[in-house]
Amino acid sequence: MSKQPIGIFDSGVGGTSIWKEIHKILPFEDTIYLADSQYAPYGEKHKDQILELCIKNTEYLLNQNCKLIVVACNTATTNAIKALRAKYNVPFIGIEPAIKPAALQTKSKAIGILATRGTLSSELFHQKTDLYNSSTTIIEQIGEGIVPLVESGEIYSDEMRTLLKSYLTPMIKAHIDYLVLGCTHYPYLVPVLKQILPKHITIIDSGLAVAKQTRAVLKQKNLLNNTQKSAVCKFYTNSKSTALKQLLNHNYPVAYLDF
Ligand code: DGL
Repeated sequence: MSKQPIGIFDSGVGGTSIWKEIHKILPFEDTIYLADSQYAPYGEKHKDQILELCIKNTEYLLNQNCKLIVVACNTATTNAIKALRAKYNVPFIGIEPAIKPAALQTKSKAIGILATRGTLSSELFHQKTDLYNSSTTIIEQIGEGIVPLVESGEIYSDEMRTLLKSYLTPMIKAHIDYLVLGCTHYPYLVPVLKQILPKHITIIDSGLAVAKQTRAVLKQKNLLNNTQKSAVCKFYTNSKSTALKQLLNHNYPVAYLDF
């Protein structure tokens, strides 16, 4: 079973930011990545619809014999991972906004969180923020419109810059010293965010933590692939492949799949 692939899915191309972290520390693990771009953005959908999409993606990956599933999407994790874990036997790794490290390290006692509407309105997200609300001002901002722009390859467009400026200005005024990226599409925006944010604001995301957790769970369940041969990494999308190919630096083939 240890030679079986790791399955990874996201509402679209953003989860490749997580795949990259996983591949870096687990170079011998085969992976299958599903970009559900046809149904992006998840963040504007109802919880039940998000769960339905997650079930569809999970079943495809399980049919491909995946030994573990990484839900490389904050919106999907915060709205559906509990139900997925209850429904299937395979281990699931999820991703949530890194509120804890930001809240523990902030000196200005103000942090900003940029995430989708679906993540910010989820019960799981509220449970986490409630732990730090009394000591830290947490400024939540819905990143409406960002995911569709990343999906269409417009990371460096004027539209993106204008949108990000409008979301970040109130946070800067409120003296945040940490910005938490609560969506797996957002790490690709770091170069643009750095141009907008004052230097003393630290940007954090959960990518590396998810990769480490994936490794820890594989190890604990005796599922690590120790064959030491380079991994086979497959990428599928149910929409146009341009942005996905770009984010993978054209290093991997991307196949269209009707899932
Ligand atoms: N990458 C997804 C996330 O982490 C984007 C959600 C969406 O499609 O709105 O939340």
